[in-house]
Amino acid sequence: MTDKISMTIPNQAQYVSIARLTATVIANTLGFDIDEIEDIKVAIGEACNNAVMHGNKSSNITLDFQIHEGRFFVEITDDGEGFDFEEYAEPVLEEYKGRGLGLFIIKTLMDEMIIDSGMGNGTRITLIKNKE
Ligand SMILES: Nc1ncnc2c1ncn2[C@@H]1O[C@H](COP(=O)(O)OP(=O)(O)OP(=O)(O)O)[C@@H](O)[C@H]1O
Ligand SMILES: [Mg+2]
Repeated sequence: MTDKISMTIPNQAQYVSIARLTATVIANTLGFDIDEIEDIKVAIGEACNNAVMHGNKSSNITLDFQIHEGRFFVEITDDGEGFDFEEYAEPVLEEYKGRGLGLFIIKTLMDEMIIDSGMGNGTRITLIKNKE
């Protein structure tokens, strides 16, 4: 059985830490180790920061966690402007200009990153990490 926990926070920078903290507690409950929890915390922070930074018309961010043994799962949804993920290009690290690392970091830290977004349609990013 998969239990579900959902939370909605205002789409503002000062609430992102609440989402990070909740993800930390859930990952800890699922038995992830300290390094894995740190990875999850950073990834959730980057995804929420993107909602705040780029989802300008958005009013809320919703996080839907699934509680399932051996796997951390969350869907993070904003109702902002969305973007065309087909157009996304991974950063070239030698040419780093101080921006554009968030999705790359998330992808590196998590086992799966699924983006469902479209111009004018908001963004849903699904993040999964399996326990080692
Ligand atoms: N939730 C979102 N809503 C709208 N656009 C998004 C969202 N998340 C990502 N994007 C788009 O994807 C691009 C890449 O995101 P990424 O997090 O990799 O870089 P960044 O946010 O521009 O910079 P950084 O994360 O390093 O501060 C963003 O510039 C933005 O155009
Ligand atoms: Mg970002």
